[in-house]
Amino acid sequence: MAPIIGRPTRMAPMNWAIIVAAGSGRRMGGGVPKPYRRLGGRPILGRTLEAFHQSACFEEIILVVASGDMNTCRRQVIAPLGMEDHVRVVAGGSERQESVYAGLGACRGQDDDLVLIHDGVRPLVTVDLLQACLAAATDHGACILAVPSSDTLKQGLPDGRIIKTLPRDAVWQAQTPQAFRLDLIRTAHRKARREGFRATDDAQLVERLGTPVFIAPGSRSNIKITCPEDLVLAEAIWQLRRRH
Ligand code: C5P
Repeated sequence: MAPIIGRPTRMAPMNWAIIVAAGSGRRMGGGVPKPYRRLGGRPILGRTLEAFHQSACFEEIILVVASGDMNTCRRQVIAPLGMEDHVRVVAGGSERQESVYAGLGACRGQDDDLVLIHDGVRPLVTVDLLQACLAAATDHGACILAVPSSDTLKQGLPDGRIIKTLPRDAVWQAQTPQAFRLDLIRTAHRKARREGFRATDDAQLVERLGTPVFIAPGSRSNIKITCPEDLVLAEAIWQLRRRH
């Protein structure tokens, strides 16, 4: 039989990851940018990367950081984890959406592959959460992790007046990771860019295509480190996990 020459046939769609960490972190204060503050003695971003590494789910991790931080990030975050061959660093943009777009541009996946997008400042993500998000995205094409709201939610006006109370059992707090078929999220981002539409997460860009996005259970521990109090809480959760 003649030898088969050319690209090897892909057995199954692949998973890619984009971690965005190019924010300025103004609400955090202090001199050190948020992704490089320490959690359990290691940069926050290093803790996030560790979970992705442990999951062994991803073909490649695209790490989007501020253009001035690229070398520091390679030296202080990626090298100590020995992940140099598995992580590609790219420069982000002025808003989160721009940073994800840069990550999508760098992703070498094919249309039917999955890409999982995660905030670099959610370091308490676990292997289980990553796997659950990928599994739901495999079934539905688009999935986010979210938790039910434990507070009663009000819609209000800028002057503080309440317009209405939102039905709590129908409201979710969106988290990352969020995972999508690559062709779907690329289409969603290109459309938003063409139309100048800005969103605070990637799911919203897919929702406005009219494509259903599904929710899988997130975790209350999967917090986004935004303010100094969040880092105190994250440190407590981290220490608790180490003991169990
Ligand atoms: O802005 P927000 O706090 O929601 O940021 C969520 C994530 O998006 C953070 O990990 C942050 O570093 C990232 N981000 C980014 N590029 C920006 C702004 C935020 O990668 N320009």
